[in-house]
Amino acid sequence: MASHAKIIIDEKEIELPTIVGTENEIGVDISDLRSKTGAITLDVGYKNSGSTTSAITYLDGEQGILRHRGYAIEELASNATFLEVAYLLINGELPKNEELTAFETNISRHTLVNEDMKNIFNAWPTGSHPMGQLIAMISSLSSFYPESLETNQTEHTKQLNVFRLLAKMPTICAMIYKKSLGHPFVYPQNKLDYVSNFLNMSFKHVTEDYTIEPVMVDALNKLLILHADHEQNCSTSTVRLVGSSNANLYASIGAGVAALWGPLHGGANQEVIEMLERIKNDGGDVSKWIDKAKDKNDSFRLMGFGHRVYKNFDPRAKIIKKACDEVLNKLGINDPTLEIAKKLEENALKDPYFIERKLFPNVDFYSGIIYRAMGFPVEMFTVLFALGRLPGWIAQFNELRSQKQPIGRPRQIYTGYTFRHFVKRGDRK
Ligand code: ACO
Repeated sequence: MASHAKIIIDEKEIELPTIVGTENEIGVDISDLRSKTGAITLDVGYKNSGSTTSAITYLDGEQGILRHRGYAIEELASNATFLEVAYLLINGELPKNEELTAFETNISRHTLVNEDMKNIFNAWPTGSHPMGQLIAMISSLSSFYPESLETNQTEHTKQLNVFRLLAKMPTICAMIYKKSLGHPFVYPQNKLDYVSNFLNMSFKHVTEDYTIEPVMVDALNKLLILHADHEQNCSTSTVRLVGSSNANLYASIGAGVAALWGPLHGGANQEVIEMLERIKNDGGDVSKWIDKAKDKNDSFRLMGFGHRVYKNFDPRAKIIKKACDEVLNKLGINDPTLEIAKKLEENALKDPYFIERKLFPNVDFYSGIIYRAMGFPVEMFTVLFALGRLPGWIAQFNELRSQKQPIGRPRQIYTGYTFRHFVKRGDRK
């Protein structure tokens, strides 16, 4: 086990301490590098840099392992409810019976949003992308709960903010969906569990009864769990970076939602379905599209393929693929894009380009097919991802605060002009 590392810059050699995680991952602690040598490290895209220690999620990309607080994602996805996993992520342990009941009760007490929020919804043009609305709506909670702006909050206020955010998120997400349809909002029903409540607010039409299908509840519960945390990914790092400036919980998580929106991150689930539709409408020749993805002169990428960390398989994608078959069977839906997705996966996994680069389906590859089978339009897919990721962002935000970390502020290597004198307007060539 490495106990120290050495770095030689020109003739100068310094020793750097190492830090070893509980799963024996090794990090070289470079905190003193600049003060001792004047040099910094450069790691564009943070491919080799750890930004923090964390006790929330363990991920081994080579072996396809994902665990939250020590529990395997496979066991959580098959046995837990989403709120149990949320409790686990935020509090560090699985809740005892009475702890879970208290947690659920606290959340169900805060599901309504302030009626004034409807005015914000009224201002959006119909057809606005749901993710843009979600960012603004989450940040706007700081206006409704100004105590969230205080930097020295009591434990009670901190907890209240967490309950409010977890409770209001499904309401806000469902309101965004209803707004896109031009339909009246459906209010939360506190007798329903978290997932059923969200489905009811999304799919109940005010003029008709709505039966919540257990198959939909189970599938969404599983999907939310599979998205609940993923250590220091782009959106979570954003939440932590914004939070490190002492910005409030709602602003930090709103920023995380913005990062998630990008098609290289959570926005990929929307892109996957759009890609599968394009392939289907083009005649369904998957080899043509695999060739396009391999062509460096073509900007097309196989969306839902590849991952910064997983280099063998994404354990979440395995579970989702199975769930996808089950849900479509139970709902009696025959979606031709599922066949295209499977063919695409089969062909890509045999192709040397994808094998050499260790590119596999990721969490977004099959999730969209399930969301669509449930009745959600593609623009809502990344909103559903955000709903699932929320407890992870909250847990990471709380951990950051408890670690009392300094403000996040990377350095750079400057590559612009050296000093030059200002030239007056008329004298410029
Ligand atoms: N299709 C075709 N080629 C790909 C793909 C893909 N989906 N993904 C990576 N590659 C190729 C790259 O062109 C590169 O090839 P090269 O070495 O010949 O230049 C090589 O594989 C490595 O790819 P990078 O982009 O350098 O890997 P990085 O770790 O930076 O990116 C990412 C990871 C962003 C996920 C990438 O694989 C990608 O763009 N995938 C498609 C978008 C996607 O599905 N995003 C969701 C990720 S999961 C999540 O965020 C929830």
